[in-house]
Amino acid sequence: MTFNPQISHSAHIKGTSVSKTYVTKDGEVLALQPIDFEIQSGEFVSLIGPSGCGKSTLMLMVAGLLPTTTGVIEINGTPLEKPLTDVGIVFQDHLLLDFRTAIDNILLQTQIRRFDEEAARQKANRLLGQLGLENAGKRYPNQLSGGMRQRVSLGRALIHDPSVLLMDEPFGALDAITRTQMRHDLETLWLEKRKTVLFITHSVEEAIGLSDRVLVMSAGPGKIIEEIRVDLERPRPVEIGENKAFIEYADHVYGIFRQLGVLKI
Ligand SMILES: Nc1ncnc2c1ncn2[C@@H]1O[C@H](COP(=O)(O)OP(=O)(O)O)[C@@H](O)[C@H]1O
Ligand SMILES: [Mg+2]
Repeated sequence: MTFNPQISHSAHIKGTSVSKTYVTKDGEVLALQPIDFEIQSGEFVSLIGPSGCGKSTLMLMVAGLLPTTTGVIEINGTPLEKPLTDVGIVFQDHLLLDFRTAIDNILLQTQIRRFDEEAARQKANRLLGQLGLENAGKRYPNQLSGGMRQRVSLGRALIHDPSVLLMDEPFGALDAITRTQMRHDLETLWLEKRKTVLFITHSVEEAIGLSDRVLVMSAGPGKIIEEIRVDLERPRPVEIGENKAFIEYADHVYGIFRQLGVLKI
């Protein structure tokens, strides 16, 4: 397989009437109502909604790891019928292998895909630098902070240069300061690589701070009830929270959650 670390790709994602019903031994559970959605090539889209509304379910379907119950997901116009390989995924739990160093965790992807070892190692070292981990490549996961582990997870998700990056509450377990730093660094990386990103969060500030567009979901079984185009210049400063337009976007989303009864303050 050829591997050119210089080329960045992104993909167009389209879902039509996508829903999910889980079949369990106790019966059927509607997890996601039928929704239509589209993510443009190179767009950063966040999905925000209350716990249990179906966010992770939707992400797993976009990854091709879970079949849709109804509807079709198309990647660059082709219906998704098996797990996407051209994808990087970051979960809330880092899921790193504790017996592999940071760099070897990142290289796992390229080894599985049988990419050229030397080119992959060079790329991994470059990625470590971009992720602020230049001195951490040889450390094991238990020698890294939570934020550093998530950075390694991000490196692992990007090393094979996928066109789609899926992130499921990646910063959910991190403290506020680390989270802010990660947000900033993710934006910097995204501005360079321009992957198509679906970012799941339950933080209103994170969604607005990072995204070109925010899809707001109702409580479970959820559906997309509003789409907000975030028209804020990039790169966005750390103090973006003080920006008047940002505050208006955030108030708007909080208003939706209040209307839904998800937020009672
Ligand atoms: N494997 C499963 N089997 C049965 N029900 C599930 C399964 N996974 C998730 N669910 C249910 O589907 C709904 C949506 O779950 P999920 O997608 O994890 O929501 P979110 O990520 O928004 O918190 C919830 O009611 C959850 O309990
Ligand atoms: Mg979830």
